[in-house]
Amino acid sequence: MKGNVILIGFMGSGKTTVGLKLSYCLRRPVIDTDKEIEKDEKRSISDIFATDGEAYFRDKETECLEKLLADTGNKILSVGGGLPLRQRNRELLHKLGKVFYLRADAETIYERLKHDTTRPLLQGDDPKRKIRMLLEERDACYREAADVVVTVDGKDFEQILDEICRQAEDAG
Ligand code: S3P
Repeated sequence: MKGNVILIGFMGSGKTTVGLKLSYCLRRPVIDTDKEIEKDEKRSISDIFATDGEAYFRDKETECLEKLLADTGNKILSVGGGLPLRQRNRELLHKLGKVFYLRADAETIYERLKHDTTRPLLQGDDPKRKIRMLLEERDACYREAADVVVTVDGKDFEQILDEICRQAEDAG
């Protein structure tokens, strides 16, 4: 197993912000799989979904993890909210390092994302219902992928960072 610190969780659970702060605390670079894919594809996630569909994007996520496995050096990896749904991706995550699930409830996520236009999966009529449904569907996969579950509701970033840093030490 490699020694990356990996953040998974639903859209809006705070992976990007926590990843950046952790990068500073642990003095390691941070890699965001969504950004890597956008860079490789030279277009936004919304464009990828609209033009080539979700399945194409999911294949790019798996390719991205495979590339990271060949990478040297320990990093912070912040991964897209749907990435752990594939069994193959969960296996790759375990090989890549210690996985932290940032667990947020539907209310927290809705409040954070109600004005967001960049998540194609939440652009329908009733985003609150969609969040509840997807979260319910995904929670078991996130838990299966995770070494540590970090509940984020009602906590500030300092508390979350503290929890992760204390348990990230043995990640290499
Ligand atoms: C997705 C989450 C997004 C992005 C894409 C699909 C998902 O990433 O990968 O819009 O299926 O949950 P974030 O979790 O960083 O928002």
